[in-house]
Amino acid sequence: MVLRVSIVLPTYNERGNIEPLLEQLLPLQQHYNLEILVVDDDSVDGTAELVRRLAHTEPRLRLIRRVGRSGLASAIKEGLLDATGDVAVVMDSDGQHEPASVRRAIDTLVQGDLDLVIGSRFHPEAEILGLSGRRERGSNWANASARFSLPRGYAGLSDYMSGFFALRLEAVLPLIRAVDVNGFKFLYELLAVSKGRLRTAEVPLSFQPRTYGSSKLDLAIFWDFLISILHSLSLRLLPRRAISFGLVGVSGVAVQLVVTQLLMLSGLGFEQALPFAVVAAASSNYLINNALTFRFQRLKGLALFRGLLKFLLVASLPVLANVGLASAFYSLVARDTLWAQLSGILVVFVWNYAASSRFVWNTP
Ligand code: GDD
Ligand code: MN
Repeated sequence: MVLRVSIVLPTYNERGNIEPLLEQLLPLQQHYNLEILVVDDDSVDGTAELVRRLAHTEPRLRLIRRVGRSGLASAIKEGLLDATGDVAVVMDSDGQHEPASVRRAIDTLVQGDLDLVIGSRFHPEAEILGLSGRRERGSNWANASARFSLPRGYAGLSDYMSGFFALRLEAVLPLIRAVDVNGFKFLYELLAVSKGRLRTAEVPLSFQPRTYGSSKLDLAIFWDFLISILHSLSLRLLPRRAISFGLVGVSGVAVQLVVTQLLMLSGLGFEQALPFAVVAAASSNYLINNALTFRFQRLKGLALFRGLLKFLLVASLPVLANVGLASAFYSLVARDTLWAQLSGILVVFVWNYAASSRFVWNTP
């Protein structure tokens, strides 16, 4: 029987890249019963319109167009859940992954009777033409952290962040369902939820430079990566957003301590400096949380300013507690400004996380 193969192509603004890629992928129907699913997140460059038009004369091509939902991991999950093949292959649609790797990955999967085959950029036989030196070093570092945080059985893999992989749908579907799409990379999350049970192998990739458009990797993705690693290390018990909120809180602690010191250096007493420092720390926390922790609910323009007022209001209860507690600690327990502040800050964290999620960014 001919193997049913579904290729999942996530796209965001890939109008210039998708057509040449499809032209290279469609001939695979000589070998497989082929289905190609393009999952587009409402690209602004006309990617979806182009794919739709191509699908008129190409029944093997399907378009999934998502509006109001976004993110690479969630696009991949949606494509995989809709795929009808025995085997699914996920790859980038910007031409950085070579279509030639598809057959090699599927052969390895089928012949080895495996669950998952990863296309690796860091395999000894791989070639990297399309990564800057900085990105390559970043990836090495990220891979080492990923290896450390994932089940031991996957320690032999070399590319935990790859956007290219083939899997056996029936076997892996329950895990695909369980993947948290707020995570950093789909593959990393899949490996994390599988608890080491997947039979895996890697094939080398030849990672090409992009022809059109630009990469969507940014600081926020790096942040997600950090959160994903900490989430895994907490045995996936601490909610991602709480981890993110907590890390931002740590930066706020630094802001508060520094501002207090500066104001005291300029002659203010501790109890006078403290309120300013607390407000500065809360405002900085608000802005960073808005850009990172709650970026999918990000507030802009006037709403950003209204949000700040709400955040300060929400935070003012514990801010008062913070100031009160820190002052009380300072005058009653010990004249130690550091511990006075830290004790105030701890009380604040729990309340702030719960209340601002709900009232400032309207999330449960
Ligand atoms: N649907 C959808 N939604 N697709 C997206 C989104 C999104 O929010 N963001 C990116 N994509 C698509 C792009 O159109 C492209 O086809 C693919 O996902 C990869 O995105 P790039 O922006 O080109 O990623 P990259 O080249 O910087 O990153 C490469 O390395 C990463 C690991 O370091 C890719 O190979 C990634 O897949 C890989 O995880
Ligand atoms: Mn790319």
